[in-house]
Amino acid sequence: MTENQTFDISLNLNVRGMPLSATLQINELSNKLKEEGKKIYKMGLGQSPFPVPKIVVEELQSNAFQKDYQEVKGLKALREAVANYHSRRNDIQRGAENVLIGPGSKELMFLLQFVYYGELVIPTPSWVSYAPQAKIIGRQVAWIKTKEINKWRLLPEELHKVCENDHYRPRIVILNYPSNPTGATYSCDELQELADVARRHRVILLADEIYGELNFKGNHCSIAKYYPEGTIISGGLSKWCGAGGWRLGTFTFPKSLSELLNGMAAVASETFTSTSAPIQYAAVKAFNGGISIERYLWNARKILSALGTKIHSLLSACGADAPGPEGAFYLFINLNKFSDKLKSKNIFTSMDLTTRLLNETGVALLPGSVFGRPEEEFTARLSYVDFDGNRALAAAEILKPEDFITEDFLSTYCSHLLEGTNTLVSWLNAL
Ligand SMILES: Cc1ncc(COP(=O)(O)O)c(C=O)c1O
Repeated sequence: MTENQTFDISLNLNVRGMPLSATLQINELSNKLKEEGKKIYKMGLGQSPFPVPKIVVEELQSNAFQKDYQEVKGLKALREAVANYHSRRNDIQRGAENVLIGPGSKELMFLLQFVYYGELVIPTPSWVSYAPQAKIIGRQVAWIKTKEINKWRLLPEELHKVCENDHYRPRIVILNYPSNPTGATYSCDELQELADVARRHRVILLADEIYGELNFKGNHCSIAKYYPEGTIISGGLSKWCGAGGWRLGTFTFPKSLSELLNGMAAVASETFTSTSAPIQYAAVKAFNGGISIERYLWNARKILSALGTKIHSLLSACGADAPGPEGAFYLFINLNKFSDKLKSKNIFTSMDLTTRLLNETGVALLPGSVFGRPEEEFTARLSYVDFDGNRALAAAEILKPEDFITEDFLSTYCSHLLEGTNTLVSWLNAL
C-alpha cells in the first residue's frame, strides 16, 4: 500500500457524514472567495471584533513562563476570581470549589452532555453546536419551536409542555441569552417564570451566558438567581473579552451538582488534562475586572448597540424582519416576505438563499437551518463584526461617557459593514 492510497476507515456512526461546524465552513468559503479576489462581507462568523483588553494581554505576556500542568479543575486563583465575579455581577454566591475551567465553554458543554445521561432540550433557533454535540455522543435532542412574535424566545408554557410529557425523564435544558443567533435577551421577571418551570420539572439548566457582558444595557440578569440548585452558568473569555482563540471557558455549578462537576473533571483529567497555564493566569485579571475593563465593556456595548440598531433599521426599511438588537452581535433575519420572489429565482431553502447571496454579492450570512429552523424557512443570521474593532474602540474611548455613537462614527469606522448591509438590501430590492 502506498501513502497516497486511502484506508477503509470505519468512522463512528455518530460522526460519519458529519460536516465541519457550519460557522467554520462559511468562514472557510468566505476566505477562499476573498483569496480569489472577490469582495467579501464576512457577516457569517461570530467573533468579537475587539482586541483583548490591554491589561489582560500584559498579564498573559508576563505569565508566558508558566509551564506546569495545572489542576484539572483549573487554577485555584482563577476559580476564585470566577466565583467572585458571579457574586459581584449576578449576586450568586459560589466558591472556587464550584467552578470548572476548560479550553473553551464548547468543550465543557461536550463534557456535560457526555457525563450526564439525559435528553438535550433546546429552543429553535439555537447556537449551531449544541445539537451536533448531542449527536456525536448519541443523546436525543428535543427542539422547542419558538415564535418570531416572541422574539424567538422560549416561553415558560412551551418549556412546560415538553417537560410534562414524561416528567421524570432526565433533561438538560440550554437557555442562551443574550442569544446567538437572535441578539435578544430576557428580563429578570421572564427568567423567574422560566426558572419556576425548570424547578417544577427538576431539569438541569445550562445558562449559556457567554454574551452576558454584551447585554447592551449592561444589566444582564442570571437565571441562576431564581433556580440556583439546578443551574450551571456557562461563560468564558471568548466574547466579552475578545479572546475566542485563547480558548478559555468556565462552568459555575451549585453545590447540589458537585457530583456532575467531579464527573466532568474525571473525564477532563483523561482527555485535555488542564487548560493552558498562561491563559489561566491572564484570565484571573479579566475576571477580577476593574475600571479599565469596565471602560472597555462600556465602549464595546455602545458601539455594538449603535451598529446593531443601524443595521436593523436599514433591513426593516426594506421589509426584512428581525427582533431589535439587545445584546451580543447578531440579528436573526426573516425574509419570508420575499418568499415568492425567492422561489421564482429557484431559491427554496435558507441554505440556497445564503449560498446564492454569497456568490452573487459577497455577503456571507449563516442559514437559519443550521440553528434548527426548518430548511424551507427563509431565515438567516447576520453578525455585525466585520469591522476594525481596534480602531473603533480607540475612537470610542476618547468620547465623553455620555456621548452617543453617531451616524458619522459608524460611517467612519464600520463602513465596510454598512456597505455589506446596503448590498444585501439592494439584492433584496432587486429580486
Ligand atoms: C452561544 C454560544 N455558546 C458557546 C460558544 C462557545 O464559546 P467558547 O467555546 O469559545 O467558550 C459560542 C461561540 O460561538 C456561542 O456563540
